Amino acid sequence: MRSRSVLDNDVKEVLVSEEEIDEIVTRIAAEIDRDYSKMEGKLLLLCILKGSVVFMGDLMKKISLPVEIDFMKVSSYGHGTVSNGKPTIVLDLHRPDLSDCNVLIVEDVVDSGRTLKYLTEYLTIKGARSIRTVTMLDKPSRRAVEFTTDYCGRVIPDEFVVGYGLDYAEKYRELSYIGILRPEVYTHKK
Ligand code: PRP
Repeated sequence: MRSRSVLDNDVKEVLVSEEEIDEIVTRIAAEIDRDYSKMEGKLLLLCILKGSVVFMGDLMKKISLPVEIDFMKVSSYGHGTVSNGKPTIVLDLHRPDLSDCNVLIVEDVVDSGRTLKYLTEYLTIKGARSIRTVTMLDKPSRRAVEFTTDYCGRVIPDEFVVGYGLDYAEKYRELSYIGILRPEVYTHKK
């Protein structure tokens, strides 16, 4: 366990501990190994920046199969906590041919579902051999479009969570656990 951060004081409650995260990533990596060992083609882990970078790093180390990695950034939020609902590609995937790639999109959290729905459609048009999705966290109560991930770490309630890659105003991403942010922090009453 890393030493306590000053940021811990802004966390109301630990939702997923560092130990639980490790168990979750181990389980998901085993599921991925089991499923993809039967598939033809390479496994491409596609990290959706920035929030997924910590999960991606842990997951790729626990998957036994050979993987390639790539990155995209899709922006769908305005300022604050409310989605404006329009995904825009900020950083694209620069691979000329995806026909040999089983793309596994790696997300930290699924909220409205718009990002993953959009990316799945986009990668289908780009000719990926197969497309699946994995998320550390899922907030099904927030769904605006129908979307179900193939692999999921933990279903969580509609709370403002930070840590393990997830931020509020670009802070808290480095926390080794996932915690619920104190409301005073984002309502600026603190
Ligand atoms: C978050 C998250 C997903 C997306 C999920 O990214 O990492 O990519 O929102 O939301 P949706 O299901 O409503 O589409 P964010 O835009 O906060 O960027 P970040 O990862 O760089 O913090």
